[in-house]
Amino acid sequence: MKLKDKVALVTGTSPNIGGGIAEGLAAEGASLVCVDASIANATDCAKYIASTGRKAIGITCDVTDEAQVAAAVKKACEAFGRIDVLVNNAVIFNKKGVLNMPLDQWRKQIDVILTGAFLFTKYAAQSMIERKARGSIINIVSTAGHQGEPNNIAYSTAKCGLLNFTRSAAMELVHHGIRVNSLTPTATDPSESSERAQRWGRAPLDLAAAKPIFEMYRTRIPMQKLPSPSDYGRAAAFIASSEADMMTGTDLRIDAGAIARYWPWDPSQR
Ligand SMILES: NC(=O)c1ccc[n+]([C@@H]2O[C@H](COP(=O)([O-])OP(=O)(O)OC[C@H]3O[C@@H](n4cnc5c(N)ncnc54)[C@H](O)[C@@H]3O)[C@@H](O)[C@H]2O)c1
Repeated sequence: MKLKDKVALVTGTSPNIGGGIAEGLAAEGASLVCVDASIANATDCAKYIASTGRKAIGITCDVTDEAQVAAAVKKACEAFGRIDVLVNNAVIFNKKGVLNMPLDQWRKQIDVILTGAFLFTKYAAQSMIERKARGSIINIVSTAGHQGEPNNIAYSTAKCGLLNFTRSAAMELVHHGIRVNSLTPTATDPSESSERAQRWGRAPLDLAAAKPIFEMYRTRIPMQKLPSPSDYGRAAAFIASSEADMMTGTDLRIDAGAIARYWPWDPSQR
């Protein structure tokens, strides 16, 4: 197992990507701290992971609130002794354009994505340094952070910011043995999230309603198949593990070829 005896803290543990990453890290042996502003998403994820035989706790915390972040890191260290792996994954979606996005909503979305990652990195890295522990920090980006997506201005801007936050933090923390990398997901097949929601005792997602939009994404992606959260979970486990010991300041794209695609090429036409 890649993460035996490691402690991982993941923010934003809904049954979608954060839940998939948390389960992926736990499958490789890690104990999990599931952090979310929603008590249900923090505790359901932790409860499910605990039911598989791993140690897990849920902590309710707003990633934009410094006192709450400091308290969450303290609680995690009290529960498990240290944090070895941090995954900054929490997000709010709010598709609005530069012409119509209200300032307060711009600030809120930038705050959750960028300030949330900044605060958790600050307190988790301080705790790693205090304990002289090597660590791995993974920031969850998006293909929208690599390209100019229209009408998603705060999201695309913040996700692009996270790419250089990753490089800057990687340089600052390199002499402390803390690696900082990012992982880029893309439009994600919703079937696994629906199955995960059911495993957590919730209702399934309305996959029929979501089908047309995901079918559009599928036909435009080079592999003609969308990734699932467990694909990101396996990639996060790799980045967090000693197999990636020489990797820092890097972005790992699990995007079925989306960003590599030459823009006029239509992958559905072979
Ligand atoms: N869903 C996709 O297709 C997709 C594509 C590319 C990248 N991503 C990225 O993957 C990550 C997860 O996306 P998802 O689709 O699973 O999102 P989601 O909406 O299912 O989950 C986000 C979680 O973050 C939590 N959260 C929101 N604000 C918070 C706050 N202030 N403090 C603490 N927790 C907070 C929510 O409660 C929720 O549980 C995000 O970083 C997102 O940008 C998603």
